[in-house]
Amino acid sequence: MLLIGNWKMNGLATALGEAETIAAAAEAALQQGIQLALCPPATLLRTLSHHVAGTPLLTGGQDCHVEHFGAYTGDISAAMIKDAGAHYVIVGHSERRQNHHETSMLVQRKAQTAIEVGLVPILCIGEHRSQRDVGQAESYVLGQLQASLPELGSNAQIIIAYEPIWAVGTGLVPSLADLSSMYQAIFSFLETRLGNKVNSVRLLYGGSVTQNNISDLVKLNHIDGALVGGASLTAASFLSILNEVCN
Ligand code: 13P
Repeated sequence: MLLIGNWKMNGLATALGEAETIAAAAEAALQQGIQLALCPPATLLRTLSHHVAGTPLLTGGQDCHVEHFGAYTGDISAAMIKDAGAHYVIVGHSERRQNHHETSMLVQRKAQTAIEVGLVPILCIGEHRSQRDVGQAESYVLGQLQASLPELGSNAQIIIAYEPIWAVGTGLVPSLADLSSMYQAIFSFLETRLGNKVNSVRLLYGGSVTQNNISDLVKLNHIDGALVGGASLTAASFLSILNEVCN
């Protein structure tokens, strides 16, 4: 199981202490089969990775450019994220798709670039509330997945995070029945597309995950963990989610 914190645009140098507290719990978590990771803002990635090196806490970037280097002011390449000590990079988060008009075609190229440099992409997909309301959540999400999924070579790894947009930062979570049906649909799609390789893909849930709902979420078939936003910002709340999973 995987618990990954996405700090989004939060965290100054003072937040490194939270990461260190989380790192101190990572070995015991791993012994229980739970891998912990944090995706801090780019400004903290190298320092945070350095601070937690030697512990099983892994780190990740929150986005990457499709090119390896070049005249792209303000952008950060996958190679730079890898060089800063990261293991993962999030691509296609709904906040990037919405606020930066990222298309699935672009997200696919980002995921491909991430794999090329040796990062594991965390590919985010998820529907709008309006699509769920008219019964189109699964068809929309599968279309997004089809268009965003990179080619996976024999050893390539990828994580798919299903994050319904209306559940991100709202306190709302889909019903367990709706989640079961969505994860079955995602798994079946991947099985058809990837064959046996489907077993190396891990599926996460993201959207208002807290210590109060994590236990029910991870009991569902095909959910291998969570991508946690707000509740990952302090060690206390992130580790309370871990505690629930361990119990
Ligand atoms: P919240 O957990 O704050 O809803 O954010 C989820 C998310 O977007 C993680 O990537």
